[in-house]
Amino acid sequence: MFTIRFFLEHRESGEAVIRKAKAGQTVLEVALNNKIDINHDCGGICSCSTCHIYVTKGNHHIEGKSRKEQHYIERLKNKNENSRLSCQCLLREDIGEIEVVIPVKVPGN
Ligand code: FES
Repeated sequence: MFTIRFFLEHRESGEAVIRKAKAGQTVLEVALNNKIDINHDCGGICSCSTCHIYVTKGNHHIEGKSRKEQHYIERLKNKNENSRLSCQCLLREDIGEIEVVIPVKVPGN
């Protein structure tokens, strides 16, 4: 089980803490199940990049990137080394803490 902290980029407030997130869920599913809004235009099938997040802590608790996910991340203007697509961030069987930053929307992404 995990504690996941969600932050909004460039905002002091807006932190949401989700405790007891379970393995086998994606970060997107955890967010949506807890009324945290992350865009997901393709419905979570790794065919867009609207669910972009930064995983700033606990990346080792999440399954690695597929080539398809990496392909969509490469197209983002605001990507960095922490970029992931939240619908592809499957939580591993583990215990720990994860921190996620939800980026500000960038035109053209
Ligand atoms: S919702 Fe489209 S890639 Fe995640």
